[in-house]
Amino acid sequence: MVAALSAAGQMRQSALEETSATIPDGRVTVAPRVYSSGCRRMADRAAAPEGARMSLARRATGPGRVNLIGDHTDYNRGLALPIAIDLGTTVEFTPTGSSGITFFSTLHRQGITLPLGLPPDPEVVGTLEPSWARLVAGVIATVGPEIGGVCRIVTTLPVGAGLSSSAALATALAKVFGATGSPMAVAKLCQQAENLSGVPVGIMDPLVCAGGRAGSASLIDFSTLSVEYVPIPGSAEIVVVDSGQHRTLRDTKYAVRVAECEAAAETIGPLGLAHESDLAQLRDPLLLKRARHVASECRRVRQVAEALVSGHLWAAGTYMTESHRSLAEDFGVSTPGLDSLVDHLRSIDGVYGARMTGAGFGGSVVALSRTGAIDVASLPTPAWRVTATDGTAVNHDRR
Ligand code: GLA
Repeated sequence: MVAALSAAGQMRQSALEETSATIPDGRVTVAPRVYSSGCRRMADRAAAPEGARMSLARRATGPGRVNLIGDHTDYNRGLALPIAIDLGTTVEFTPTGSSGITFFSTLHRQGITLPLGLPPDPEVVGTLEPSWARLVAGVIATVGPEIGGVCRIVTTLPVGAGLSSSAALATALAKVFGATGSPMAVAKLCQQAENLSGVPVGIMDPLVCAGGRAGSASLIDFSTLSVEYVPIPGSAEIVVVDSGQHRTLRDTKYAVRVAECEAAAETIGPLGLAHESDLAQLRDPLLLKRARHVASECRRVRQVAEALVSGHLWAAGTYMTESHRSLAEDFGVSTPGLDSLVDHLRSIDGVYGARMTGAGFGGSVVALSRTGAIDVASLPTPAWRVTATDGTAVNHDRR
């Protein structure tokens, strides 16, 4: 990852050209900065005064996440079983003592500068342009870094592919800006940042990005916010396949699904705590389907956790495949592309099961298989064998 940062840094960074733009209501200024050709050392000199080069730089990598099972359960006080993965986003923050923070990302040609002291106000944070400034601003608003500087962002995660690129970035930013405390405390700040940026996400993604554990999945109970670690058997392999259909949650029906679940909960209480026998009280057929997905998904989360513990990988895979069907037919968040990827993966010898992972509406599919069963290079879209990794940690470097 550090090598990736250096390599990316050497790509095109040298003198920084700066132009400025103001947000319509004049409350926040985002100053775009543009990289031009040359070497990285020159860029560092241009961006940071002499004294700053001696200060303590901080670097953190936020892992992406793959949810093995339990989607659309977190905002319903249900259960999920995600892992943090060995693809992620690295942020290197060099304090300069300035009154703002300049961000450069290898994903965007122009950098941006945001002021310190942004208010936790969705009207401010959620309307910034360019849109990638919103999450970054949300983290400034919730974590409240006290010193300005320069942040460089590189990622090995595909963006908009259902692998929590947002939470990976948010947790890494939170750590380099000085957020301390438990993974839960960091996750709450990151969830709030993403909510401010305009998406009513639950806490699953930042919680596993901040608190994942190598070799294990995190069994999260969102009604108590407790986490148990479930070891992944060494004979199992987890493969993630990007459908190529990328999206930002803001542009999907994610918020509509949250509202539908809230409407169903008015009759039967939080869906993640409902019993499948409670569902008959729901008269609206659409709300019944949404609630049926959540209630049955929580049961399947428990079943997969138990199957992993007892080494019954075929059973785990079967529940994962059932989960996909439920997300497609009852929750309405799959797509023809995800469905056909799941079918293709399931047709491969040694694949125990497959399902869409994350919010859906595009994104990625996860398969559980026997080691070596899936030839990732033969798949039609990018795919990775992933391993469960630890959550975000921060390093300090004396420059
Ligand atoms: C997105 C959200 C999560 C969760 C999943 C679906 O990844 O960020 O909070 O709701 O969708 O399980």
